[in-house]
Formats: sequence, C-alpha cells, structure tokens
Amino acid sequence: MQSDDLRSLTDTALPAIAAANAASLEELRVCLLGKNGRVTMLLKSLGGMDPEARKAAGALINLAKTQITDAISARRAVLDEQALAQRLAAERIDVTQPPRPDSTGVVHPLSRTQEELASIFATMGFAIAEGPDIESDWNNFSALNIPSHHPARAMMDTFYLEAPKNAPPPVLRTHTSPVQIRTMLEWAKTEGLGASPAPIRIIVPGRTFRADHDATHSPMFHQCEGLVIGEGITLGHLKGCLIDFLRGYFGIPELPVRLRSSYFPFTEPSMEVDIGWNRKTGELGGGADWLEIGGSGMVHPNVLANCGIDPRRFQGFAFGVGLERITMLKHGIADLRLFFESDVRWLRHYGASPLTQASLHEGI
Ligand code: PHE
Repeated sequence: MQSDDLRSLTDTALPAIAAANAASLEELRVCLLGKNGRVTMLLKSLGGMDPEARKAAGALINLAKTQITDAISARRAVLDEQALAQRLAAERIDVTQPPRPDSTGVVHPLSRTQEELASIFATMGFAIAEGPDIESDWNNFSALNIPSHHPARAMMDTFYLEAPKNAPPPVLRTHTSPVQIRTMLEWAKTEGLGASPAPIRIIVPGRTFRADHDATHSPMFHQCEGLVIGEGITLGHLKGCLIDFLRGYFGIPELPVRLRSSYFPFTEPSMEVDIGWNRKTGELGGGADWLEIGGSGMVHPNVLANCGIDPRRFQGFAFGVGLERITMLKHGIADLRLFFESDVRWLRHYGASPLTQASLHEGI
C-alpha cells in the first residue's frame, strides 16, 4: 500500500464528492465506504501487514477515511439545504392573492339587522333571549292576557299543530311576546324573590308566523321583542330606550319618534311606535308623516301576576318591532317577499360583508 495510491484515491474522490448530486453521492459513499468499498478494502488489507508497516499505513488510511467521510457529510448538508429551499419556493402560498369573488358569501340583511340590534341594545345592558317557534297556547296567548274568547286572537290567526288530548293545540308563535312569559317565569323563581334583584333586560329577535300572505305580509316573518322588568320602571324609560334604539339603528340623530295610544291585551297603557318620514319621497326623519314600526307599553299587571311576579313591587315595559319592516325602511327595499326568495343577485346587493362588525362606533 503506497501513500501515493492513497493520495490519488482522495484526489479523485474528494472533487467527485464535492460535485455529486443526491443520487451519485450515495453511489460514491457505497463505492468508497460500503462493505466492499475501496477504503474498507484497504482497511481490511492492514491485517496482512507486519506491525511496523500496519501502523504507518493504518494512520494514512484512517486519515483518508476521515477526509472522505467529512466531505460526504458536508456535501449532503449542502444538497439537503438546496432541496429544502426548492420545496419552500415551490410550495409557497401567496396570502396576498385576492380571493375568487364567487367564493365570498354575504350576511342576509335580516341577520345583519339582528346583529345591529344586538349591538345597540348591548350598549344599554340588554341580553339576548330566545324561545321556540312552536309555542303552547298558554305562552303565546293566555298568559299574555289573551283568553281563548278574546277578539285579539282573530288578529293573530296562525298555524295550529295537532292537539294533545283535551288540550288546546300548540301554535307556531304569532309574535316574540311568549318569550316575555318564559323569561319572567324563570326570573320569578330565582332573582324576583331576592331583596335587590337584578332587573330583566332582554331583547328577543326571532321568527314569527301568521296566516297572511301579500306584498307586505308573509306567513313567516321576524320580530324583535324588548322586555325590561324591575323596581320603579316607568313609561319614561320605555320612551328613552325606544328613541335611542331607533336613532341608533337608522343613524339619524334627530329622528322624530312618536308613541301613539293603542291597545294590546298584555300592556297597559299600550302605544304604537311611529317614526317621522316623508311619504312622498320616502325620506326618513323629514316631512310631516308618521310610519308605524311596532307596538309597546307597560307590562300589564295580569301578565306579571301570571308569571308569579308581584305587580305592586315590580313594573316593566315591553315593545315589539317587525324586523323586515325596519330593514326595508333602512335600505329602501320595496317588497317583503324578496327577503325569502333566495335570489343570489338580490342577496349580494343587500347583504352585508361577513367581515364587518355591526357596532355603533363604526356607524351601524
Ligand atoms: N306582540 C305585539 C305584536 O306582535 C307587539 C308588542 C310587543 C306590543 C310588546 C306591545 C308590547 O303585535
């Protein structure tokens, strides 16, 4: 074994390693360091030498082996890094690319109105309550001071479900007012008995049903109920609450709001809620005309008593507005039926971006 032979081995191997690609590098490794590789064979040949020669040759061969091993590791590190860089470049996702326009959905205008109301009433400390679409006769009518013989039932003709034996049939709720009952019953069992009860302050956006169908009536529509119960609640609170809500929702600071004497079995006194507008131009806030947008009143003592609340200690107010009605007014939508036709062009036009928040600060 000559040191010249070894040198010529490293002289050819090292540049070949430095220039190798991933596949040829592996071939070179097997060729040089594998079981029958050239360096391995040289190491094996040491066994046949006499001790003096073995010592000298052994040192040289091991030196060559170290050089070759180091060169292979260094080349492999370079190749790995290149491969990673290539993959990162190839698999890069450009997050700045605009989305395909067709894949963007919009929030239905009625859902948007509900979000806006939630946001406005949250600033006044109201929580959101919900109830089922299918209601008992008692929650929808009787507990609200509308007994079965009462003519007010005729104004709210609805859809009746099959009756259990000897009981009045469940109904599709004609208004969101039964959630008043549900909320007060729950409250009377706990909070209403305490020495300093936290008041009820809820809004109830939701689906309602009546047997009506034309350009301004749909058998399914939406309302938002409001209910406040506590000690010392007055009609002044009701009026202030409605004014803040309507001016915030329509974005008109001086919007005229009128409470007009009316009748509901579950409130006393009862008032329709009107806002000022110009009938000719449709402009809200201007002109001398009035437009009805909901009902309201002080919760009737019978209703409080029906829910187990002492009317001598607690008072409250309630109101209900039609969500389609106020949405149509705000956006100039002429026909109620469009809300439920699922025409994608219409939805795109009147829908809201899912990325914008409904908040008073951002201008509802
Ligand atoms: N529930 C009534 C309706 O649907 C509206 C209303 C709610 C009136 C609350 C007074 C108080 O017509």
